Amino acid sequence: MTWDAIILGAGGAGLLAAAAAGQAGAKVLLLDHADKPGKKILISGGGRCNFTNTGCEASCFLSENPHFAKSALSRFTQWDFLALIEKHGIAWHEKTLGQLFCDGSARQVVAMLLDECAKGQVDVRLSTSIGEIAHRDGAFHVAGEVARNLVIATGGPSIPKMGATGVAYDIAAQFDVPIVTPRPALVPFTLGEEDQAFKDIAGVAVPSVAGVAGVIFEEASLFTHRGLSGPAILQISSYWSEGQPIWINILKDAQTHLKEAKRRMPRAHLKAALAEHLPKRLADALHEVFGITKELANVPDSDLMAVAERLTRLEFQPTGTEGYAKAEVTAGGIDTNALSSKTMEVKAVPGLFAIGEAVDVTGWLGGYNFQWAWSSAVAAGTDI
Ligand code: FDA
Repeated sequence: MTWDAIILGAGGAGLLAAAAAGQAGAKVLLLDHADKPGKKILISGGGRCNFTNTGCEASCFLSENPHFAKSALSRFTQWDFLALIEKHGIAWHEKTLGQLFCDGSARQVVAMLLDECAKGQVDVRLSTSIGEIAHRDGAFHVAGEVARNLVIATGGPSIPKMGATGVAYDIAAQFDVPIVTPRPALVPFTLGEEDQAFKDIAGVAVPSVAGVAGVIFEEASLFTHRGLSGPAILQISSYWSEGQPIWINILKDAQTHLKEAKRRMPRAHLKAALAEHLPKRLADALHEVFGITKELANVPDSDLMAVAERLTRLEFQPTGTEGYAKAEVTAGGIDTNALSSKTMEVKAVPGLFAIGEAVDVTGWLGGYNFQWAWSSAVAAGTDI
C-alpha cells in the first residue's frame, strides 16, 4: 500500500500534522524511534506543558527570514490551539507573560494529540528506525513503506539523552535542502574563573533586565554553579554569538538607593545597603567584587555612582553555553528560503515537508516553540 504521508517524528509537530492530515482524509503513517510519543511535551513546563502564549506573533521568533513564520502562525493561532485544548476538556491557566499551562498534567496534551490522531486513523509506529530514505518516481521509501509525501518532524538535537537527533539535517542534506547552522538556544551560560564569586552563590535568583547586542528581556536571572541561567538569561542566549559580552541590570534605581543609604546609614558598609534590595548572598558577592571596604560615609559619591552604574549593567563575558545537553531548543535548522511559508513544502522537492523545531524558526521562552510546532504542523497537515 502507498501511504498519502509518512511523518517522521511523533513530537508535538508530527502528532498534530498527522492528526490534521488524517482527519482531512489522508492515509498517514507516523514513525518515531522513541518508545513513547511526545516525550518533550511530557517534560515541558515542569510537567504541566506551557502549550502556547497569548502574545504569540512572528516578532517573538528568531529566523534568518523573520517574516517566514507569519503565514502559518496567522492561519493556526494560539486561540485555535486553545480551542482544541478546551474541546478536550483540559483545564488550563495563565501564568505570567501570557504563558498558558495545563492545570493538571502535560500527559493530557499528549493524550489529546493521540486522540486527534485516532480520529484521523493515523497509524502510529514507535520504536521504529528511519534508516535509509529513497526517492523514486515521485514516492518516498522509508522503513519498508512507501508514501507520496514525507514530513520531517524530527526536531533538533537539543537534549540528546531524550532521543533528540540531528537527523532532520541529514535528510535535508540528502535532498540538497540548505541548513542554517544549528546552535543551542534557550540555554544557560557558563562563566570563567574571574566570575567565581558569582558561581559561589549558585541558587540565588533576582528580578532583572538582561541584555545582549541590543536585545533585552525583563525576567528573573539565576546564578548557577557553572554560570548564569533563569528566564531572562535563557531568552538572551538565543541571540548570543560566541565572544559577545552580556549584561544584567540587577537593581533598578540603584543610584537613588545607594545615595539614600549613604544618607540614612553612613556607618554601614556597601553590603548592608545592597542587602536591603538584593538577596544577602548576592550582596556579599558584589561587596567582594566591587572591593569597597569603607563605611558608606567615607565612600566618595563618584565611587558610589560607579557602583550604581555597574549594578544596572553588570557585565559578564560568557565562556560558552551548556550546549545541547541543556538547551531547551535548537536555533537554526532547515533554511526557510527552501520552504513554502504556506505549506512548509520544500519548493524544489514536491511532497517533502519540514515542520517544527527542525526548521529555522525558534521561539522565545514561554510557549512560543510549541505554538510554532502546532502552526507549522497544521500548515503542512492540511496541505497533504
Ligand atoms: P520534538 O523534538 O518534540 O519531536 C521530535 C520527535 O522526533 C521526537 O519524538 C523524537 O523521538 C523523534 N526523532 C528524533 N530523531 C529521530 C530519529 N533519528 N529517528 C526517529 N525519530 C526521531 N516549548 C514550549 O513552547 N513550552 C514549554 O513549556 C517547553 N518546555 C520545554 C522543556 C524542555 C526540557 C525542553 C527540552 C523543551 C521545551 N520546549 C518548550 C521546547 C519544545 O519542547 C520544542 O520546541 C518542541 O517539542 C518541538 O516539537 P517538534 O515536534 O518539532 O520536535
